[in-house]
Amino acid sequence: MRVWSGMMRVGGLVLFVAGLAVGAGAQGTQTGAASGAASIQPRTAAARPTAAATPRNAAIRPVVAATPPMGWNSWNYFAGKVTDKDIRDTADLLVSSGMRDAGYVYVNIDDTWEGKRDATGKIQSNEKFPDMKALADYVHSKGLKLGIYSSPGAQTCARYEGSLNHEEQDAATYAEWGIDYLKYDLCSYGGVMKAQAPNDPAGQNKLMHEAYEKMHQAIVKTGRPMVYSLCQYGMDSVWEWGPQVGANLWRTTGDISANFDRMSLIGRSQDGLEKYAAPGHWNDPDMLEVGNGRLSHDENVTHMTLWAMLAAPLIAGNNLTQMTPEIAAILMNKEAIAIDQDALGKQGNRVYAEGPVEIWAKPLKGGAKAVAIFNFGETASEMRGIRLHLKEMGFAGAVTARDVWAAKDLGKIKDDTKFTVPRHGVVLLVVR
Ligand code: GLA
Repeated sequence: MRVWSGMMRVGGLVLFVAGLAVGAGAQGTQTGAASGAASIQPRTAAARPTAAATPRNAAIRPVVAATPPMGWNSWNYFAGKVTDKDIRDTADLLVSSGMRDAGYVYVNIDDTWEGKRDATGKIQSNEKFPDMKALADYVHSKGLKLGIYSSPGAQTCARYEGSLNHEEQDAATYAEWGIDYLKYDLCSYGGVMKAQAPNDPAGQNKLMHEAYEKMHQAIVKTGRPMVYSLCQYGMDSVWEWGPQVGANLWRTTGDISANFDRMSLIGRSQDGLEKYAAPGHWNDPDMLEVGNGRLSHDENVTHMTLWAMLAAPLIAGNNLTQMTPEIAAILMNKEAIAIDQDALGKQGNRVYAEGPVEIWAKPLKGGAKAVAIFNFGETASEMRGIRLHLKEMGFAGAVTARDVWAAKDLGKIKDDTKFTVPRHGVVLLVVR
């Protein structure tokens, strides 16, 4: 229940302020998914405003995404074929597989759900989604949250109805349905930008910022917390201005696909963006392809590890009706998820690279570090001559290490300890 609400900015964080709030749920974000607009509790000191900025008796909370959002999205597997039934099946399987309890709580419908507008301009879902409110109720009844997709343009990327000139109306409709997450994809708005500011890149970028801000304000106006996910492929260094337009996450690249070259290229190219990630605001290297295409076991493990090291949103994209135990174990590895979801909210970066071997480190709460030794090469590597670079990570001498994927405590290791890293594989350690 909420008595009043509003937005405030504190230390660069946009906070949702509510007069009355109830407890915290999965990921410390929202509870009572079944009960409509749910409340969110603060997770981190950074997200807490000063006493002076706090209205009396008010609970202050980051809107959503205190840790990188976790869930599932329809696009990577189902693309334009997704239906209401696929979403319900996925919701059921998120629960029965254990994924919900591992943190995957958002069920996100991507493009191709949109129908036409009615006489009042209200967006309708198409015949694949006969009753969006009933679907939201179903998803919420499973303790999950529902996400949806639109574009600031007149058309989405798959040429369905977009939100141009209907922003407030659409946000209100999403709130009425019980939507908890919006992915807002630039698509045809690129054409609007070019038409309105021809040969003026700065003017075009301004239009883009305004379009994203407009939908943010429309969401705020509904009073319903929704994760706001920007999708414009990293244009105009979105990480620099995403937080100012209310984004909880922003895509940093073009689309991922289910092959090692594309996945690893995207993941590796995130080095340097780590300073822009923080609780409430995450770099998004796109959704997971774990379990899709022909990714091998080691490639799936590398994918999951790289995204965890990046504090990336973990939005699975596989067909859960066909998920093998092997893929389930990768997606639900508790220690890898804990690295991604670490409360410090720091994105990792590359510490050292030599040929195909790269060593990445991610600071964790309490002074530990996740250390990933990747082998992007075509043959196994024994790391001959490659140090772990522990000193460069801030460790003075030997450290105590845990091997995450082997689920094994290694005891003390030193800078010259060698690991054998398989082709396209990784060794993931937590050291302290
Ligand atoms: C773009 C996005 C994808 C997906 C499709 C849907 O390509 O980057 O993630 O949402 O549009 O049409």
